[in-house]
Amino acid sequence: MGATRYAAARVRGWGATGAGELRLELEDANAEVSIAEDGSVRLRACTGEKLERPLDPGIGRAPWQPTRTEPRERDGSLWLAHDGRQGTVQVEIRPDPFALRVRARNGESVAELEDLGFAEQGAARIGYRARSGERFLGFGETDGGLDKRGRRLLLRNRDPELSRRGPRYLSIPFFLGFLAEAGASSARGLLLDAFGASRFDVAATHPDRVVIETEADGIDLTIFPGPAPADVLRRFTARVGRTPLPPLWALGHHQSRWSYASEEEVLALAREIRRRRIPTDVIHLDIDYMRGFRVFTWDPRRFPDPKQLVADLSALGFRLVTIVDPGVKRDDAWPVYRDGAQWDDYCRRPDGELFSLRVWPGESVLPDFNREDVRSWWGEQHRPLLDIGVAGIWNDMNEPAGWKRDVRIGRWMLPLQRQDVSSLVQSHPLEPDRRVPHDRVRNLYGLQECRATRGFLECADPEKRPFVLTRSGSAGIQRFAAVWTGDNRSRWSDLRESIPMLLNLSLSGVAFCGADIGGFLFSCSPELYARWIQIGALYPFARTHSMWLKRRQEPWSFGPRVEAIAQRFLELRMRLLPYLYALFREAEENGAPIWRPLLYEFPGDPESAAVEDQVMLGPSLLAAPVLERGARERELHLPPGRWIAWDDDAQYVGPRRLRVHAPLERLPLFLRAGSILPTQSAIRSVAEAPAEPCILEVVPGADGVGTLLADDGETTAYRSGRVARSELRLWHRAGGRLRLEIGRREGDYAVPPRTLRVSLRCCPAPERVTLDGRRLARRDDAPGYGCEAGRLQVRFEDGGESHVLEVDPAP
Ligand code: GLC
Repeated sequence: MGATRYAAARVRGWGATGAGELRLELEDANAEVSIAEDGSVRLRACTGEKLERPLDPGIGRAPWQPTRTEPRERDGSLWLAHDGRQGTVQVEIRPDPFALRVRARNGESVAELEDLGFAEQGAARIGYRARSGERFLGFGETDGGLDKRGRRLLLRNRDPELSRRGPRYLSIPFFLGFLAEAGASSARGLLLDAFGASRFDVAATHPDRVVIETEADGIDLTIFPGPAPADVLRRFTARVGRTPLPPLWALGHHQSRWSYASEEEVLALAREIRRRRIPTDVIHLDIDYMRGFRVFTWDPRRFPDPKQLVADLSALGFRLVTIVDPGVKRDDAWPVYRDGAQWDDYCRRPDGELFSLRVWPGESVLPDFNREDVRSWWGEQHRPLLDIGVAGIWNDMNEPAGWKRDVRIGRWMLPLQRQDVSSLVQSHPLEPDRRVPHDRVRNLYGLQECRATRGFLECADPEKRPFVLTRSGSAGIQRFAAVWTGDNRSRWSDLRESIPMLLNLSLSGVAFCGADIGGFLFSCSPELYARWIQIGALYPFARTHSMWLKRRQEPWSFGPRVEAIAQRFLELRMRLLPYLYALFREAEENGAPIWRPLLYEFPGDPESAAVEDQVMLGPSLLAAPVLERGARERELHLPPGRWIAWDDDAQYVGPRRLRVHAPLERLPLFLRAGSILPTQSAIRSVAEAPAEPCILEVVPGADGVGTLLADDGETTAYRSGRVARSELRLWHRAGGRLRLEIGRREGDYAVPPRTLRVSLRCCPAPERVTLDGRRLARRDDAPGYGCEAGRLQVRFEDGGESHVLEVDPAP
């Protein structure tokens, strides 16, 4: 594409559409510029008449809604302006050559686009003016560091197999441009809507330019103003959709292996996990549960009674997730294949023959998920899994991936030659009757499959929140599925890489994401597993998974010391579950990611911008995982403000660099002053009631706010108000006085009466503790307080009323 010749775009004429868009007539092309209520600006441009078709319905997205704006001509430019409650922008379009500049209310430049050009067959190019020092984050799932400046990225979903450079299974043509200079920072986002591959030269060829190229369908991009990264994410996710609140159990630990291959093995695993008291909620079944790898079947010999298996697992507090690959075995004797063939549901070759590729079951065909009837048919095939009680679906190999040739010995196989899918033809999502080369719509394949899967699960049981996990996807995939980052390796480099990779995925809108804990390929050492589970227990999606033939990755496979570490960190996850859950609510409400790079929380701190081996889990917790073999120390950056170390309550004031002792048992974890974290006592699965259901971890040193949230954890009733919600407020007064306000519980969800514990860090024996104006006594029962190792523990009965807790320090 680098050598493609583009004809530069010039504006020849213009007019308003009446629906809010400004139409531009270019030489041999059309363009449209519009502004949404929240100040996001969209530019669509292509040769031909394609502008008429809205893209959103084809991928199940809420439509773009332009505001009505009056275009004006001034100083040889065209101007559009929008002054709304949610955003104010001004757009200037210079006609010759075409250039577009978005400015904020204060006149500051948000984004400048130029060098729009078109080539053969709908290919197009546009340039984004990069500022000196601007960082570029996002792009979905890509190797390397957090900042993609200097990279040339081909965003085409692929199974990378052994080549590890570049974007992988899931690409998202979105970046967050972030600039911090002289104490000020600004952020903006840019999304390219493309069904097929695109290229981003991220200021690699020219340091002041991001060059964006598409292969077809012109350019369709949206600029999301900041000024803060959180503002960009709110706008971007409003456009592509947000992560719906998952069922609570899906936030527990998932244990997986390729494969737990018989009922006995699965049950033995489940019992062992419980016997060893390792918190885990979910077991995954990889491909070997199926009969000859035929999707939607069970191997009758190894899984003779799956329904009973689900019941037995459920009695032990586990849910079962099964893998479903899109490749359907070509087997005329098998009704699922026959049914799909009869309805012409599979992708074809240009000569009209069925397109075949080799996947686990041998010769297989691929459903054409761009057709709605195919999606419903596919969804329906899941009914038997649901009837058995399977709790979630894991969609793999959906780039799609497969081979041309392979060698097989019994059930095992070795792929020899990658299948070339360029000869595949499938429907266009906007015009299902039109068949287009697969490459034109390739990046949608995984998304449309997950849409089918989730769509069915939602219809089959509208009250239940579904769980779908996917390997492939594109912008907006979070509406349908959680994402794991595919086949990583049990290597220190892969552990390290998982941090920026998940941060970038998170910034690309995918809040519910994780990497295989312990690594998938190769064997994991005890030390690597210990370090991986420490941070993996804090991944938004926490699953241990590993490949066949390699060392097993159940926590006890690494000896008692590492098992104890795994247990402790998975317990930490369960203790933090109420906090994590509240973050997921936030992700659904305003698009804030669960995992955040430091710059998201501290945009004004120049040091934070460069940090890519630390994460913020929500606004309150900072983790600095140990990512090096043999390391027993960790150097890290603490952003501005006060911090308290999770383990030993050591206090620090940032910004500063810090070297901490990190023996194998320790993950350097810090609490931000002013935080109020809802936590609970450790449980082994969400099926178990915690001994203490509500512990507020209060971190003095600054004012702060928080939310205490509860719902049934499983149904969609929270959307119609069946929640219990209290707002929390912390006031930090001079001399160390503290006031914690717990707002009255609102909402329809009934929380049984409980004892609430407020745990205050760094709070030696106080002079006085009062609850609602009444002095509390020092005693273990509620209401009362106790002091232990520098922490103050206050207990009182919580029936949902508002409370004010005040603590006066000892003089
Ligand atoms: C793919 C998946 C991996 C899975 C394997 C077998 O490689 O990425 O997670 O275990 O297929 O299904």
